Amino acid sequence: MSIEVDKVVVRFGGLVALQDVSLTLEPGQIVTVIGPNGSGKSTLFNSITGLTKVAGGSVRIDGVDVVKTPPHQRIARGLARSFQTPRFDPRISVEDAVLCGFYPVSHAGIAGSLLRTLRVARQEREFAQACERILTDFKLGPLRGVALGELPMGQVRLVEVARAIAHRPKYLLLDEPAAGLTRAEQQLLADEIRRVAAAGVGVLLVEHNFALVRELSDHAVVLDGGRLLASGNVNELMRDPAFVAAYLGSGQQPAELTS
Ligand SMILES: Nc1ncnc2c1ncn2[C@@H]1O[C@H](COP(=O)(O)OP(=O)(O)O)[C@@H](O)[C@H]1O
Ligand SMILES: [Mg+2]
Repeated sequence: MSIEVDKVVVRFGGLVALQDVSLTLEPGQIVTVIGPNGSGKSTLFNSITGLTKVAGGSVRIDGVDVVKTPPHQRIARGLARSFQTPRFDPRISVEDAVLCGFYPVSHAGIAGSLLRTLRVARQEREFAQACERILTDFKLGPLRGVALGELPMGQVRLVEVARAIAHRPKYLLLDEPAAGLTRAEQQLLADEIRRVAAAGVGVLLVEHNFALVRELSDHAVVLDGGRLLASGNVNELMRDPAFVAAYLGSGQQPAELTS
């Protein structure tokens, strides 16, 4: 049980966006992906969810190679993700945006239509209750009726994460979810990520804020120019001069990473 990315290669025309990148994400684990802009972090997410084609290597979800599997079938295997730039219709309410993270589980076999109707009604009630819990966790309850277009981007990102969690994934991929969040919102997000991971969800996180990275995860993979520069324990990486140089530019001390 894990996501295994093995020597994945992604090219866009002549540009090599990922070259032989590998990582493993186990249930309950929080792995951070770090690296400068353009180093391939979002492309790595896209290669896992199927939004980009890989030119080489393999992506396995719980042992099944999915490189030829379309995105919706990968999602059905238990993936959920948030996007670096959420694209919601600004007129959609917070509640509707989170509710669309739920989708009815289809039941095989020919059920009577009345039974099906009852089941759907029960499921809708369950979704509404679960949605309410998630909105409360994210302190978004009072904003449930507010249109997304009226919220600052930080809160839209929180909604995006709430929607991904509503999906009850086995693996949750969060692409810079903390960008633009206030400190209090970041803390809320960190608590939620920890709670989700403690419940057994594997979390892959793109994050620049090093304080948050250290707080949340012990394992990090570092990308630089589409290549895997380093991977390992976060605190050990911080003692690695190659990592510090790539992440911040040379001449800086790890202590400065905490800002
Ligand atoms: N759809 C695309 N078409 C062409 N080039 C792309 C596409 N997506 C990403 N890239 C390029 O791939 C490289 C990695 O991008 P990206 O994965 O978004 O980096 P990061 O998320 O680390 O900032 C960049 O040079 C970017 O311009
Ligand atoms: Mg990105």
